[in-house]
Amino acid sequence: MNAVLKLTDLQPSPDDISGDVLAGLAKAPKQLPSKYFYDKRGSELFEEITRQPEYYLTRVELALLHNSAAEICAAVGPRAHVVEYGSGSGHKTRILLDALEDPVAYTPIEISFSALTASVQRLDHEFDDVEVLPVCADFTQPVAIPQPTRRADHALVFFPGSTLGNFGEDEALGLLRAMRQTMGDRGGALVGIDLQKSPAMLEAAYNDAAGVTAAFTLNMLTRLNRDAGSDFNVASFSHSANYSVERGRIETFLVSQRAQTVTVQGRRFRFAAGEAMQVEYSHKYTDRGFAALVARAGLKVVQRWNDPRDWFGLRLLQRA
Ligand code: AVI
Repeated sequence: MNAVLKLTDLQPSPDDISGDVLAGLAKAPKQLPSKYFYDKRGSELFEEITRQPEYYLTRVELALLHNSAAEICAAVGPRAHVVEYGSGSGHKTRILLDALEDPVAYTPIEISFSALTASVQRLDHEFDDVEVLPVCADFTQPVAIPQPTRRADHALVFFPGSTLGNFGEDEALGLLRAMRQTMGDRGGALVGIDLQKSPAMLEAAYNDAAGVTAAFTLNMLTRLNRDAGSDFNVASFSHSANYSVERGRIETFLVSQRAQTVTVQGRRFRFAAGEAMQVEYSHKYTDRGFAALVARAGLKVVQRWNDPRDWFGLRLLQRA
C-alpha cells in the first residue's frame, strides 16, 4: 500500500510555534514546550540518545515488548486498528504488529513530518496486510482517526517510550481521556511507563557522558531560531537535568550562562545570569500512582508487564 498518498497533514503552522514561545517566555519561571524538540535534527538526536549506554529506557522496553509479545497478543485480541501517539523509529511498532493477530490498520500520529514519513515508508513495505493511515498532527489536540478500508474489531492505542511522562498532570489526563475516546468500549491502550528508581541512575540517563542529551536540549533553540523568529544565542545556554524525588520526575532546564536579551518576533525577553528555563519533565511512576492517574481519566489497568529488574513497565488499559 502507498502510505504517502493517504497521509493526513494537520502539521501545526509556524504561527502556533511563535505564539507558544512568546507565551512560554512571558511566564515566570520561563518555559518552552518540549514538543518543539522534535524537528528533523531533534528526532535524529533523540534516536542517538536511545543508543547511549546510560539511557536504558528504550533497550529495556524493546526487550520487554519482545518477551511479552505472546501475552500481549492474547490480551489484545485479533483484528486491531493500532493507533500510535508519536512514531519514532518504528522498532517498537514492528514488534507489536508482528506480535498481534491479524492487525487491520496502523495509524501513527506524529508532529514531525520527516519522522512520520520515514517511519511509515519503512513499515508500509514490511506489513502488506496492514493498512497504514498516518496523520501528521499534534496528538495533544483532538485528532480524527481515519477509518480503515477493512473493518477493525477494536482500536488499540499504543503509547510506548514513557512519553506520557513528558506531560504535566492536566495534559496527561487529557491524553488519557483522548485515548479512552479512541479505544471505544471494546478497545484498549498499551502504555509504556518508566518506573521510579535510584536518582543516580535516572540522572545518568538524562546526562549521558557523550553529551547527546545536552545537544538534543540545546537543539530546541536552534529550531526555534529557524521556525519561531527568535534569536537565541545557543552557545550561551547550557543543559541541566535533575531528578526531584518529591515530584517523581526528571526536570530539564536550559540555563542562561550570562545576563542577556532574546528577541522573539520583535519582543524582547531578559535572562539573568544563571536563570533556568524549564523545557521538559520526564515523570517516573509507581504502580499505585499510575493506577490512580488512569482512574481519574475513567480507565483501569487490566494487565501489567515489567522487565525483571522493575525498571520499565507496559500497562494495558481499558475503560473502567
Ligand atoms: C521521549 N521521551 C520519553 C524522552 C524521555 O525520556 O523523557 C525524551 C528525552 N529527553 C531527554 N532524553 C530523552
